Order: sequence, then structure tokens, then C-alpha cells
Amino acid sequence: MKMGFWGTLKKPISILAPLSGVTDTVFRQIIARYGKPDVLFTEFVSCDGLCSQGREKLLPDLWYCEVERPIVAQIFGSRPDTFYRSACMVAELGFDGIDINTGCPDKSVEKQGAGAALIKNPELLCEIVRETKRGAGDLPVSVKTRLGYDSNVIEDWVGQILQSEPAVISIHARTRNEMSKVPANWESLTKAVNIRDREQSSCLIVGNGDVTSLESAHQLARQSGVDGVMIGRGIFGNPWFFNARTMLRDQSTDARLKVLAEHARLFDETYRGCRNFAIMRKFFKSYVAGMPEAKTLRMSLMTANDANQVEEIVEQYLSRLEPTDNSL
Ligand SMILES: Cc1cc2nc3c(=O)[nH]c(=O)nc-3n(C[C@H](O)[C@H](O)[C@H](O)COP(=O)(O)O)c2cc1C
Repeated sequence: MKMGFWGTLKKPISILAPLSGVTDTVFRQIIARYGKPDVLFTEFVSCDGLCSQGREKLLPDLWYCEVERPIVAQIFGSRPDTFYRSACMVAELGFDGIDINTGCPDKSVEKQGAGAALIKNPELLCEIVRETKRGAGDLPVSVKTRLGYDSNVIEDWVGQILQSEPAVISIHARTRNEMSKVPANWESLTKAVNIRDREQSSCLIVGNGDVTSLESAHQLARQSGVDGVMIGRGIFGNPWFFNARTMLRDQSTDARLKVLAEHARLFDETYRGCRNFAIMRKFFKSYVAGMPEAKTLRMSLMTANDANQVEEIVEQYLSRLEPTDNSL
């Protein structure tokens, strides 16, 4: 089993979850500056797409910078041959690891037999892991999944995944059918850890779901026995999430808006001519949440067409606030 960088990390390992449409290289660079987790993941990228003529369009999803290391590329699909070829590409691009998505409930993904649909097809997943490893060379290959498809079958499912000997299994503690509608079931993650121990496997088990602070991540890791914790939505509007010394509650309106403007600037510089600036707008709400006149501020930010306009709006807003106002 190739553990690569995973074998060198102190536990509990902190990980930024793959969030499609959110955790692109720009977002990850901002996170790396203000509170870097131990590991970062890309958004998921289609293996079939990477092996098609549309490949060029998908490549920006695989852009990354040195500050993001260790960086894992997440891929999805259902054909072992495109996993093999995509793994070769990812290795060639210099990533530190490759992750296979087997948890996405999106209909367009499942229709291809990919994402969460793979939970119903353990044999195919084993073949996919094997082919991904073959293409990955020395890179560690991991799997991200859920507790089951329509019911919680985590013990059987982890047992099956372990047969393909991945370096890590990250588990979003809900079934596919539960989507994100019920609280994450962290007790089930202890069952996954016990199966791993029973099999005497060195595969790491990572827990995921509803973690709202670094403190609770550490507590959940202690209680459940997982080796690491992966955080998704908790990061929204809080680039300091993984920074043990700096909490969001300590951040002034000023500091938060400075990061927002920096994020917009980096987005503009990185994606000019390649991605529409309008994509940046979805981040505004979480950055300004809780600020005085947040709604008015957000509405004016929504009209910005580039980073200069974002800066102007932020400056105007700050000049309207009392100079001593440091409230969140
Ligand atoms: C907007 C959004 C996009 C997501 N994209 C991906 C993805 O590309 N790959 C993946 O494995 N999971 C994806 N997920 C699932 C998350 O990685 C994570 O498993 C889930 O949000 C639960 O963790 P949380 O409660 O910490 O957010 C996505 C979730 C959200 C909300």
C-alpha cells in the first residue's frame, strides 16, 4: 500500500473537503494563507471529460500552486480505463495524491454510474481503484464515500473497499439517500475504524460531516477514533477555520472584507478570459454575514464586474462605518 505524504502527517489530520464550484485553486490559496489544513483536495473532475476532446476546458479545475501542497486531485467516473488515463495525467501534473469520488448524489453524475452509484457496485470500485493505482505510479490513492446508498452498511462497505487497499477512506457520515438532510452519524465512523483495525490494515480512516470548528474536529476525532477530519461547509466565509490561533469571532469587519477583496483580486488575475467574474459572487454572502447592513453591502457587491469594483465598494462601505466599529 503506497501511503505517500499521508504516512508523514500528525494525527488528527485536518483536510479541506472537495467542494465543487467552491474549492478552486484561488479559494485554496486564500485558505492556505489564512489557515492551512494538513491536506487540500481539488473539486471533483470527470475522468471521461479528461479523456475527451473537452479536456482543455477541464484543465483549470486541476490548476494548483506550490503553497497548496500536499494537494490531492479528486476524480470521478465509472470506467476503469478513463480512471487509468486520468491518474496518469494527474501524476504527470505533479499532484501529491489521487482521490476517487464514490459519494456524489448528483443525478447527472449517478446516471453515468459514477459518484454514489459506485456504492452499489463494489466490484467495479475495486477495479477502478486498481486501475487508478496503476496510472498513479508512486502517488497514494484514496477513496471518498458515504455510509451506504439507501441504508447504512458501513461495516460491509468499508470491508469491501479495504480489499482494494487504498491509502485513505474518507467517509461522509450519511447515506446517499440522506443527502445532507439528517445530522452526520459520527458513531458509524467508529464502526469503520473497528473494521479497519480488525483487518489489520494501515489504511487511514477520515471522518466528514457537519464539523463547525477546529476544536470540535479534534473532539470528534478523539471520540470516534478516526485518523483525520475533513471539513466542507464549515469553511464558508471563514478562511481562518484551520488556524488554531485565529478564530473567526476575533476577526473585525475590516479584516474579513480585506480577505474578500484579496479573494476577488486573485480570482480576477487567475481566471481573466477563462472564467466569468460573476462566479465570484456566490462567495459574497458568507463573507459579509453578520456585518452591519450586510444585505445592502451584498447587493452592491453583486453588481461588481471585477476586483477593482469590489475594492471600491468595500472602501465606500468601510468609510461609512464608524471608525471605532470593530463588530462582526
Ligand atoms: C457545494 C458543495 C460541493 C461539493 N462538491 C464535492 C465534490 O466535488 N466532491 C466530493 O467528494 N464531495 C463534494 N461535496 C461534499 C463535501 O465534500 C462533504 O462531503 C459534505 O459537504 C459534508 O461535509 P460538511 O458537512 O463538512 O460540509 C460537496 C458539497 C457541497 C456542499
